Amino acid sequence: MPATPLTVAVTRRLPEPVETRLAELFDVRLSESDVPLARSDLAALMADTDVLVPTLGDRIDAALLSGAGERLRLIANYGAGVDHIDVATARTRGITVSNTPGVLAEDTADMAMALILGVTRRLKEGVTLMQSDAWQGWSPMALMGHRVGGMRLGILGMGQTGRAVARRATAFGMSVHYHTRRRLRPETEEELGARFWESLDQMLARIDVLSVNVPHTPATFHLLNARRLKLMKPTAFVVNTSRGEVIDENALTRALRAGELAGAGLDVFEHGTSVNPRLKDLPNVLLLPHMGSATEEGRLEMGEKVLINIKTFADGHRPPDLVVP
Ligand code: DGY
Repeated sequence: MPATPLTVAVTRRLPEPVETRLAELFDVRLSESDVPLARSDLAALMADTDVLVPTLGDRIDAALLSGAGERLRLIANYGAGVDHIDVATARTRGITVSNTPGVLAEDTADMAMALILGVTRRLKEGVTLMQSDAWQGWSPMALMGHRVGGMRLGILGMGQTGRAVARRATAFGMSVHYHTRRRLRPETEEELGARFWESLDQMLARIDVLSVNVPHTPATFHLLNARRLKLMKPTAFVVNTSRGEVIDENALTRALRAGELAGAGLDVFEHGTSVNPRLKDLPNVLLLPHMGSATEEGRLEMGEKVLINIKTFADGHRPPDLVVP
C-alpha cells in the first residue's frame, strides 16, 4: 500500500457526514452530481484513482474495466446489489469489489410491506380520489380492498431482505411461503414460520401475494416470465423491491391489463427510469422510484460500510464486504 493516502473517487453526491468522513481519511474526489455520470466521465475517473465508489446507476462493464488505470485496485460500491458491475472481469484484472449488504434489508422490507398493503388496500385509488377532489364521503362499498391477514405470501429469494419481509408479513397475519436457491436451515424456517417450495411454479400457483427479493443475476433474469405469471391466480398481487430485470415487464404489463393479476407494487423496473407507460395509468399498479432503502439512517450505515471497506483494504486486508464473482 502506498504511504500517501489512497485516492478515492466518488461518482455521486452522498450524505454529508459520509462525504466529510471520506475526506478526512482519504484523498477524495467528491462528485458534484446527483445523476449518473456520463460514461466518458466515469472512464476518466477510473483511469486515475486507487478506489472508485460507484452506485447502481454506474454501469461498470468489461470495456470500462479494461480502460481503467493500473492504480484502480478497489471498487467500493455504495449499495448492496452489484449487477451493474462486471465483478468477474474486475477480479481477472486484480480489482477488488466490495458492497454494503445487510444495512438495507430492514428498510427495503418495510417498503415491500408498504407496497403489499398499498396494492391490497387500493391506496393509489384512494390518494387519486382525494387529490382530484372527487371524494363524496364515506360509503359502505367504496374502495374495498382485501384483508392481508390470512393471505399466503410467497417470497422469492430468502436472503436478509426476504427474511425481514417474512417477519413483517407474519405479524400482519399472512402465512409465509418461499422459494430460494438454498433452503434455509430447519430452525430458521421454524423461527420464521416459513414453508419452503422446491418448485417455484407450484408456489406461484398457490400464493395470494408474491414479494420479489432475489438479486438480478443471469440466473434470475426474467425468472418471472409470461409462462410463470400465467400460473398465478388472477386474484394475486406482485410486489418487487429488488431488481426490475427479474420480471419480464412487458409480460407483467400485459397480464395486469388483461386482468390476469389483481395488481402490482413496483419499486424497480426492467429498464431503469424508462418505465413501461402502459403500467402507469393502471389504478391497481403502485409505482415507486426505487426508494426501498431510502432512509437517512440506512444511507449513513451504507456510508459507514463503504468507509470500513476502504479503510480495511487500505490497511492491507480483505474488505469485510468482499464481493466474490
Ligand atoms: C442496492 O443497494 O442494491 C439497492 O437496490 C438500493 O436501494
